[in-house]
Amino acid sequence: MKTLLRIDASARQRGSCSRQLADCFQARWTAKNPGGRVVVRDLAQSPVPHLDGATMAVFCGMPAPPDAAPPAGVALSDVLIAELRAADHLLFACPMYNLGLPSPLKAYVDHVVRRGHTFVVEDGRFVGLLGHTSATLVATRGAIASPTLADDFQIPYLRAILAFIGIDRVEVIAADGMAQEEAVRAQRLARAQAQIDRLFAPTPPEPTRRERDTLHAGNSA
Ligand SMILES: Cc1cc2nc3c(=O)[nH]c(=O)nc-3n(C[C@H](O)[C@H](O)[C@H](O)COP(=O)(O)O)c2cc1C
Repeated sequence: MKTLLRIDASARQRGSCSRQLADCFQARWTAKNPGGRVVVRDLAQSPVPHLDGATMAVFCGMPAPPDAAPPAGVALSDVLIAELRAADHLLFACPMYNLGLPSPLKAYVDHVVRRGHTFVVEDGRFVGLLGHTSATLVATRGAIASPTLADDFQIPYLRAILAFIGIDRVEVIAADGMAQEEAVRAQRLARAQAQIDRLFAPTPPEPTRRERDTLHAGNSA
C-alpha cells in the first residue's frame, strides 16, 4: 500500500490556491493508487514550534542532564521523521511568503533535517537517507514570474533541502500570478492543474519489437 504525505503550509484554509492545487494532486494520486493512504500534516492547523535549545542539544548529540525529561521537540521530531520515512511520495503545498517559505514550514524543516535520522556524515560528506522517496512541490506566488523572481528562496530552497536528505526525484508545479486579477489567476491555476494532470497521464506502452523493426525499416527507406 502506497502512502502520500501531504504537507500544507498556507496560513489560509479558505481561498488558498496552494491547497486547491494540492487537492487536485491528491485526488489524482488517490485515483491512481486505490487503497493508498494519505497522511495530512497541516502546518497552519498544527504548527510546529521553533526549535528550542534543549531539542537542539539532543540533535547535536550533547548529553542530557540526568533526570531531565526528553524535550518535547525531540518527540515531535521523531514523529515527523517517522511520517517522512513511511511515505512513498511527499506533496508540499507551499506559498511564497516574503520571497521564501512560510515560517511554519521552515520550523518543520528544522525538526526533520536531523543527523543520524535523515542524513549522515560519511568521509566528511553529507549523505541523505530518504532516497526511496519522491516529492511534488506545489509552489504558489502572488506575483507574475519575471526576472525579479530571481530572488526566489522558495523553490530552490525546497529543492536543496530535499536533496540534502536524499530526495532528488522532485516535480515542481509552480503557479504564479495568484494575487493578480481573477482572469489571470484563473488562467494560471488552469495551467498548473493541466501540469498536474500530465503527471498522472498514462504512459504509452513500450513499442513491441515488431513495431520497432517496422519503424526502423520505414525510417531507413
Ligand atoms: C505574508 C505574505 C507574503 C507574501 N510574499 C510574497 C512574495 O514575496 N512574492 C510573491 O510573489 N507573492 C507573495 N505573497 C503572495 C502569495 O504567495 C500568494 O498569494 C499565494 O497564492 C498564497 O498561497 P495560498 O493561496 O495557498 O494561501 C505573499 C503572501 C503573504 C500572505
